Amino acid sequence: MTETAADALARLYDLDLSEDPGDLDLYLALAGQTGGPILELAVGSGRIALPLAAAGYEVTGVDLDRAMLARARSAADASGLAVARRLALVHADAREVRLPSAGSFQLASIPLNSVFLMGGRADQAAAVATLAAHLAPGGLAVVDCWLPDAEDLARYDGRVVLEWVREEPGTGRTVTKTGSATWDPTTSTVRLTTVFEAGAQGEPAVRWVRVDSLRLVGPDELVAMAEAAGLRVEALAGDYDLGPLELGADRVILLARRP
Ligand SMILES: C[S@@+](CC[C@H](N)C(=O)[O-])C[C@H]1O[C@@H](n2cnc3c(N)ncnc32)[C@H](O)[C@@H]1O
Repeated sequence: MTETAADALARLYDLDLSEDPGDLDLYLALAGQTGGPILELAVGSGRIALPLAAAGYEVTGVDLDRAMLARARSAADASGLAVARRLALVHADAREVRLPSAGSFQLASIPLNSVFLMGGRADQAAAVATLAAHLAPGGLAVVDCWLPDAEDLARYDGRVVLEWVREEPGTGRTVTKTGSATWDPTTSTVRLTTVFEAGAQGEPAVRWVRVDSLRLVGPDELVAMAEAAGLRVEALAGDYDLGPLELGADRVILLARRP
């Protein structure tokens, strides 16, 4: 069967993220403190949800992309029955979903910049409200956002950047990722075009393109969204060790609790 663009891009997401962003230990540590059940909005292919399920937590993941969910499901199935049973995957929009289990989660997150992908400010606030609506009293919400500095944004002038060249495990294909982005300060939005080209000796090369619109969110906005959702902000951290948010930090991680 011919692979669809969505399937290919989900597969290439995993290749892209094969270089670990370093956030998994944070979610494992937070889960150790809160216990389960755990909700992850924008769960993708299960990069975080799966290790949490493997560590014994009940995890529910929500995503809009069926191809990403299919990868998460097959990875969970390959991890054995116990893990597969602990991971529930729901095809839904994080901005509006209300699961029957709303109000029961001890930990609920929107990891790795995913909130940027959820539309404008009102949409992003709606996704944060979804976190709040699903937490049990005392439960913890986590939202993790990249915090670009002026130099990062200055590079978003349409230039084409070679991001990496990797060999894809399983297929042996050489894959090249290039990206080009433009930054619109009037809307705080980065329009990002990503091109993956894959090839191996003796087969035709293929190219996959995705275009994303990322509305960046800073610390003040995150706090406002959390408070508007009825959460009590506990901390704004600047890295995955939960070090302080200070000048030079390249992320902001919001930790907020449902009272
Ligand atoms: C950067 S990936 C993150 C996946 C995973 N959480 C991780 O950290 O590897 C972003 C994910 O957000 C999902 N997404 C974007 N908008 C969404 C929405 N409104 N509701 C649910 N998922 C959404 C995309 O389909 C994609 O799988």
